[in-house]
Amino acid sequence: MQMGSRTNPRGLKGSQMDKSFGNSDEAIGSYVYKLLGPEDQVLEAARKEGAAAGMPAIQVGGLDGRHLEVFAAMSRAQKVVEIGTLAGYSGICLLRGMNPSGHLYTFEWSPLHAQVALRNFKMAGVENRVTLYVGEALERLPQIESEGPFDLVFIDADKGNYPAYLEWAEKNLRSGGVVVGDNTFAFGRIAQEPPREDAPSVMALRKFNAMLAESPRWRTTIFPTGEGLTVGVKR
Ligand SMILES: C[S@@+](CC[C@H](N)C(=O)[O-])C[C@H]1O[C@@H](n2cnc3c(N)ncnc32)[C@H](O)[C@@H]1O
Repeated sequence: MQMGSRTNPRGLKGSQMDKSFGNSDEAIGSYVYKLLGPEDQVLEAARKEGAAAGMPAIQVGGLDGRHLEVFAAMSRAQKVVEIGTLAGYSGICLLRGMNPSGHLYTFEWSPLHAQVALRNFKMAGVENRVTLYVGEALERLPQIESEGPFDLVFIDADKGNYPAYLEWAEKNLRSGGVVVGDNTFAFGRIAQEPPREDAPSVMALRKFNAMLAESPRWRTTIFPTGEGLTVGVKR
């Protein structure tokens, strides 16, 4: 059946696009947050430990943490790779979604962040299920290739290299494995026209989303979280 074409308030034409993308209703946001209660005492303590160490509060939000836990559970992940550990908040979420014998390989450039993350992994009782690599992720990733294939790769650092991390994920994920990229709305600049030449990280995020959208090797969607969460399944 052909549906009529209308223009919604955001200027998108076509009935399928009339349903709004995302939800900016604060009441609904706090309803979901209260209902799911995604941040328990352990995650709260991990977040506070990072702040007390003077680290930036750039970990995923509580609900994004829950998304990660559910993605790990849905993909029955045994081996997960994380790029960008910070204080271990998202790592704890991923581990919670994995099989109890599952393992997290996480990469962090800053020795200070790595030190705090290790403390947090211990506090959360998951230290035996994590290997933390300190240094540039792109240089260190080859060290774990023999442990693959992996079930899920979560990319949350070093925006300019998202396309390179995706290439690595494509080679090292199992078929049916999942790649998740955070911040893929480029802090509100992803749809900015014309593309700004002075923002290589925005260009890289556009390329990352386009690679996942256009390659026949991926089936992809973008969750309209505040910061954009791109999720692709490897075919
Ligand atoms: C957004 S934070 C990660 C947050 C974490 N995933 C969470 O939600 O709890 C990004 C982290 O990546 C680290 N980082 C930045 N560039 C990196 C690189 N090239 N290789 C490895 N880690 C990097 C930063 O030091 C920072 O701790």
